[in-house]
Amino acid sequence: MDSRAWDERYAAAEMVWGEEANRWVVRETEGLMPGRALDLAAGEGRNALWLAARGWQVTAVDFSAVALDRGRRLAERQAEHIRGRVTWVRADLSDHRPEPGAFDLVLVVYLHLPADRRRAVLRRAAEATAPGGTLLVVGHDTANLTEGVGGPQDPAVLFTPEDVLADLAGEGLETVRAEKLHRPVLGPDGEPAAHAVDALVRLRRPDAAGTA
Ligand SMILES: C[S@@+](CC[C@H](N)C(=O)[O-])C[C@H]1O[C@@H](n2cnc3c(N)ncnc32)[C@H](O)[C@@H]1O
Repeated sequence: MDSRAWDERYAAAEMVWGEEANRWVVRETEGLMPGRALDLAAGEGRNALWLAARGWQVTAVDFSAVALDRGRRLAERQAEHIRGRVTWVRADLSDHRPEPGAFDLVLVVYLHLPADRRRAVLRRAAEATAPGGTLLVVGHDTANLTEGVGGPQDPAVLFTPEDVLADLAGEGLETVRAEKLHRPVLGPDGEPAAHAVDALVRLRRPDAAGTA
């Protein structure tokens, strides 16, 4: 999908992904010391704003103007010191190169691209991760097609934790976690009705002292 298609998708519904931060982002980042964060493919900003509320200075990047406007509107409902912590950047990740080594946390959450483009984005995300920093990649696992619900139905844009690790081989990051996870999907009554299968990879760039 290009940016126009994403704009149309966002314009057709209010808060496509909801306002709550993704459960894996919460689980993997709540113990980290706030610093500078980069949210690539930030969408409507649910994860960026959650991080900002916890003290992170966040750069939220997406190529959908509609999604970013919605993020800014959501931010307006937050206290000034929280909304002031998020910088919204409209850019296409196909050619956007974030500042190398500048971010203590880099998120790539539910960005589904063909393998060669995913690899290029992930390698730039790795490059942007500071010494001691964390790179978190989450998406629909390839197994979601047969074992889960929702998400893209084109196998060419889905991935496994092993795919992500292969994409990032040689980038100098250490693997903290690489796993396939079941995420409950709620039914109309608010109770878990099914599950989606997600791929999660958490990596860390060793710090200057070489400790991970
Ligand atoms: C499934 S949404 C996930 C949004 C957000 N990460 C979340 O979890 O709420 C995927 C996002 O990727 C963005 N996206 C897809 N391809 C992109 C590209 N080449 N450059 C920038 N953003 C892109 C879309 O606009 C969309 O907001």
